[in-house]
Amino acid sequence: MREESVEVVRGDFVVLPCSFFTSSPLSRLNIIWTLAPVSSPETPIQVIVYDHGQVIEDPALTGRVGFTGIPWSADIVLNDTRVSDAGVYRCMVNNPPEAAAAGIGELVLSVLEPPSLPMCQWDGDIDLGGSVTLTCSVTEGVPTPEIHWDKLNPEEISLPINMEGDLSGSVQIINVSSQTSGLYRCSATNVLGTENCYVNLSIYSPPERPSGILQGVLLTLSMSLVLLALLLLVMWLHRTGQDGRWREGKEEEDEEYNEIRYTPSLMKRSFV
Ligand SMILES: *[C@@H]1O[C@H](CO)[C@@H](O)[C@H](O)[C@H]1NC(C)=O
Ligand SMILES: *[C@@H]1O[C@H](CO)[C@@H](O)[C@H](O)[C@H]1NC(C)=O
Ligand SMILES: *[C@@H]1O[C@H](CO)[C@@H](O)[C@H](O)[C@H]1NC(C)=O
Repeated sequence: MREESVEVVRGDFVVLPCSFFTSSPLSRLNIIWTLAPVSSPETPIQVIVYDHGQVIEDPALTGRVGFTGIPWSADIVLNDTRVSDAGVYRCMVNNPPEAAAAGIGELVLSVLEPPSLPMCQWDGDIDLGGSVTLTCSVTEGVPTPEIHWDKLNPEEISLPINMEGDLSGSVQIINVSSQTSGLYRCSATNVLGTENCYVNLSIYSPPERPSGILQGVLLTLSMSLVLLALLLLVMWLHRTGQDGRWREGKEEEDEEYNEIRYTPSLMKRSFV
């Protein structure tokens, strides 16, 4: 192998070189590529095998891995790389009846990844004198992103940060005052770039003249009372109006009934 370590940006392709020299015919050439992944170095997997003219790929890598110049070269290409592809790759070349011991080459593949969008949160008491914690966490990025918190206005200042593990950092602000208000930025940075998230804090400070609020409340309250009284008045008028009309109707009916009742007797009387 010409190189001992290779870097690739996630998603790009990479060629892993493995060259060998042999003086025997290539009809019985055997090549095995294995990977000891960064995530589980104790359990290597077979990436791709060339044996008696046949190529066998690991099912998990089918369509992404291939030899570039078999049988004259043992180089492989890995397409659409993922972070999980990182680890120690080893190529073993055997060409019987050549020397019994297989030739072995090793290289380390690093798959770099830009930071993902960090997540900004705040928690605490934003009343005067309270304390607030700003937390920022990032889930992806190789190499591990560095986290910074800055206050952006009125002037840009860097804030002391407490790291909780590699991927989360917080800032504690105690005894907040109106000067604490403003825009805060968390940035997650590695060699491939920077991603930011923001928190906008506005510290609640009691108004200068609380009587203004009290007056407002009293005004609203008295206006509501006047409205309520008007409403009750309207309802009462409406109700008594209906009652009057109902009573009038009943009296009229009584009169008509009386008329009808007394008519026959009147008629009788006139006939008598
Ligand atoms: C890798 O990608 C290249 C370009 O897209 C393509 O020509 C090649 O066949 C791919 N190799 C494998 C093993 O998928
Ligand atoms: C909080 O800040 C105010 C003004 O900034 C100061 O007067 C007060 O002493 C501080 N309180 C504490 C507990 O630090
Ligand atoms: C932050 O909040 C304040 C008050 O709520 C607002 O005036 C200001 O525009 C906000 N700034 C940003 C960058 O969102």
